[in-house]
Amino acid sequence: MKKRIRRNDPCWCGSGKKYADCHLEMDEKIKNYKLRGYRIPSRKMIKNKAQIDGIRTSGKVNIAVLDYVAENIRAGMSTEEINQLVEQKTRELGGIPAPLNYEGFPKSVCTSINDVVCHGIPSEEEILQDGDIINVDVSTIYGGYFSDSSRMFCVGNVSEEKKQLVKGTLEAVQAGLAQVRPFNRLGNVGAAVHEFALSRGYQVVQEIGGHGVGLEFHEDPFVSYVSRRDTGVLLVPGMVFTIEPMINMGTDEIFVDEDNDWTVYTEDGAPSAQWEVTVAVTDDGYEILAY
Ligand code: MF3
Ligand code: CO
Repeated sequence: MKKRIRRNDPCWCGSGKKYADCHLEMDEKIKNYKLRGYRIPSRKMIKNKAQIDGIRTSGKVNIAVLDYVAENIRAGMSTEEINQLVEQKTRELGGIPAPLNYEGFPKSVCTSINDVVCHGIPSEEEILQDGDIINVDVSTIYGGYFSDSSRMFCVGNVSEEKKQLVKGTLEAVQAGLAQVRPFNRLGNVGAAVHEFALSRGYQVVQEIGGHGVGLEFHEDPFVSYVSRRDTGVLLVPGMVFTIEPMINMGTDEIFVDEDNDWTVYTEDGAPSAQWEVTVAVTDDGYEILAY
């Protein structure tokens, strides 16, 4: 049995404030949604101010690392060189690359070219070619806090079709962000992403999604980008999660590389794009913590 928390007890969120001066009012609001049948977030999904500050600081490192990649990426470079840029810059700034050794992942960043949907493993043998599109997915641990974001890069002369995919995928993320506010539902984020992608004639990968992030690399909730409107967990201030849809020019079907058990490809070989942000739900909307 959990003892009921009293007004003058310290808040469960760890802020050090009295419950009455911290989450009490919010909890009552959330309880009302629960009584009306909504799924509500667990307490672990709700971060306090100090934790959000920590994730934001981690995000600043993540952003700086991606900026550094942006300055240096070019045709003729191997994806292993991108791995080294990420590794060096992250360490220089006092961070740890979260992917390294994560569930056996062998490198410090994911690099996913053209028909690679996600989880591409950097390699000396893989050379960026003129006309490639590539996702560079960077995740940082700093001060014990996790942040996670990724960007697309167009290498040299990229076809108009692929450029549109890259741009459209970023716009899909923005459509999702526009749904992030307290007391909306998570399903509306994914539904907005999905509807936008379909309106451009693209398909959205269903099996892989985003995630809560901050105290760990991957936390609840799972964030689908093919979710239905007015479904899913209630959004409340302090939740932090990623928006990171994988959007395909052709079929949404995918397969996993049998040799490394990581790299995901489109079934039809058509290109796929992804952008990722780490976003926090604030009192009146959202704050992007990493992009
Ligand atoms: N950065 C990926 C994500 O957005 C996680 C990849 S797991 C790794 O969730 F081990 F491949 F890094
Ligand atoms: Co992620």
